[in-house]
Amino acid sequence: MLPVSYRLESAWQPEGGPHGRFTFTLFNLSDSPLSGFRLAYTSLTRVVDPAACDNATFLRRNANFHEFAPPEGFALAPGENWTFTVGGLNRQAKHCTDGAKSAYLTLSDARHVPVAVSDLRLEGATSEPPPARLPEGHVGLPFALQPWPAKIDAVAGEGLPAVLFPAANSSTEDIRAISDVLALFHRLFPAGHAPFSLAPSGQGQPIVFAKRGDLGVEAYRLAFSGREIRLEYGAAAGRQYGLTTLAQLIDGARNHATKFRFPAAGTIVDQPRYGWRGCHLDVSRQFYPTADIMRLIDILAWFKLNIFHWHLTDDEAWRLEIRAYPTLTTLGVLRGPDEPMLPQLGNGADPVGGFYSQEEVKAIVAHAAALHVEVVPEIDIPGHSTAALVALPELADGQEAPESYYSVQGYPNNALNPAVPFTYEFLEKVFDEMVELFPSQYIHVGGDEVADGSWMASPLARKLMEEEGISGTFALQSYFLKKVKQMLTARGRKLVGWNEVAHGGGVGTDGTLLMAWENPKVGIELAREGYDVVMTPGQAYYLDMAQAEAWQEPGASWAGTATPAHTYAYEAEGEFPEELKSRMKGVQACIWSEHFLSRGYFNRLVFPRLPAIAEAAWTPKEQKNWLRFAAIAPLSPIL
Ligand code: ACM
Repeated sequence: MLPVSYRLESAWQPEGGPHGRFTFTLFNLSDSPLSGFRLAYTSLTRVVDPAACDNATFLRRNANFHEFAPPEGFALAPGENWTFTVGGLNRQAKHCTDGAKSAYLTLSDARHVPVAVSDLRLEGATSEPPPARLPEGHVGLPFALQPWPAKIDAVAGEGLPAVLFPAANSSTEDIRAISDVLALFHRLFPAGHAPFSLAPSGQGQPIVFAKRGDLGVEAYRLAFSGREIRLEYGAAAGRQYGLTTLAQLIDGARNHATKFRFPAAGTIVDQPRYGWRGCHLDVSRQFYPTADIMRLIDILAWFKLNIFHWHLTDDEAWRLEIRAYPTLTTLGVLRGPDEPMLPQLGNGADPVGGFYSQEEVKAIVAHAAALHVEVVPEIDIPGHSTAALVALPELADGQEAPESYYSVQGYPNNALNPAVPFTYEFLEKVFDEMVELFPSQYIHVGGDEVADGSWMASPLARKLMEEEGISGTFALQSYFLKKVKQMLTARGRKLVGWNEVAHGGGVGTDGTLLMAWENPKVGIELAREGYDVVMTPGQAYYLDMAQAEAWQEPGASWAGTATPAHTYAYEAEGEFPEELKSRMKGVQACIWSEHFLSRGYFNRLVFPRLPAIAEAAWTPKEQKNWLRFAAIAPLSPIL
């Protein structure tokens, strides 16, 4: 690694503007003077008043991309620094991750060079360090299970079988199931001792398998006797969960013997609380290579989660290869200083891309299916579509005024246009390819955060509204999404969307599943309207939210602070009236990636809240116990 030549220090202070003020200091650590340059940085705390800056000229902004120039004729000698301040921010900074996430310089010869950044410092108020995320915790029953089972009545043993192995006469399917969970274990814990062996061992215990027609497909029962283990299951998923439970029990007891044991006697009778136990991942804001996706799916399986909601497209990038439209994954993924899409959210001087080929998608879907995880793909339409619009400019109404509306993230004119005929031709082809790749009965089509006012400056949209008697953005959105639903129905698929799909008249409740993200009340209202709902409220289940109010705690704050204790305790079903409870299909963690610039940030924010949500998804309310969870959560595998 070459030493950095330039470093940008950034601080925020509460005074100096309606939402405080940034102070930036650029250090020239190189051996050459710097003049005639421009500085660009990306920050979720955006500049909305270009005039409110001092000792610099604000040049331009696109969403989170900002560009400044030093004062006319300015030169920065080696070892010197340049300080400028920026007020006119769109909101207060609250956490250390609210500042510049990346920066670069454009030199006088048009070359772009990297600038190192660190997290944002707080000045003029106390910068609090992050508190501990988990108390020490303690377990009543000394078993290392996450999620905790529905019913456990077991006695801890003194010793520990070295391995568990299939009893003589086990079926090939049962032996394969052991091999598969063993492989999962080795992927997650490469240095761990195998919990299972296919060959019998004098130091182990046999597992006697029994398939039972009276158990649900995800249900299993374990009976321990000290000599052998009986595993009864309803179907392959239940068998996998039973084996996963055994692997967790034995590994916890082996590695943390002062806290955890293996059962010598008793039973575990287990099945999930909800059918939809999801985890979403936004791969648009940051790209995750296939190996990371596979590993995340492994982690979901370890926590007995069964849905991987794959957020494949957004303003920042379209990551799914669509063979009919190759530019989606050339132009539609590339971000760089000289590309049609500027750097965002951690991108710097070097262009970055990344997408999933159809072959990779097939491999990921197969990997998930083998672990009883269903992949629900999302293409986020009609809003959040900057990348698609850059890749396929003919999707826009050419007569629409530029920058006629802005999304909440600051993107101009970012919604697919319901009045452009090519929009539907495009989507038909996209769905044709998606249904070949994804066997799930569900396709998620987003539907969130279309800016009020979208399309109102599009002559084509105006004409369509007049012809169809439609008034306003959301009625037009409903017109569009109804057509999308028809496309999915024609392909035998069901529509899933974010809660705003119901706006402006919605799409009809029949076969539609909506995700309540804005707040818990929205979920209850949707259920009352007749929609099936999955609860993903940002206030508890958005894993990009900071885990404490402290400045030095990384993460977002727009939905509040989601402490692990709150995420764990939150009861999504809590306020649902009895008659609407059957409409609530489950719960889901959402991993939005704006702040996840590294694996370090990912693991810091996702854990321990992902296993907390897994427990909410699986474990009956009366069995939830925060201190027990706190004692077991540190055993979680991480990405
Ligand atoms: C969302 O957070 N916009 C679904």
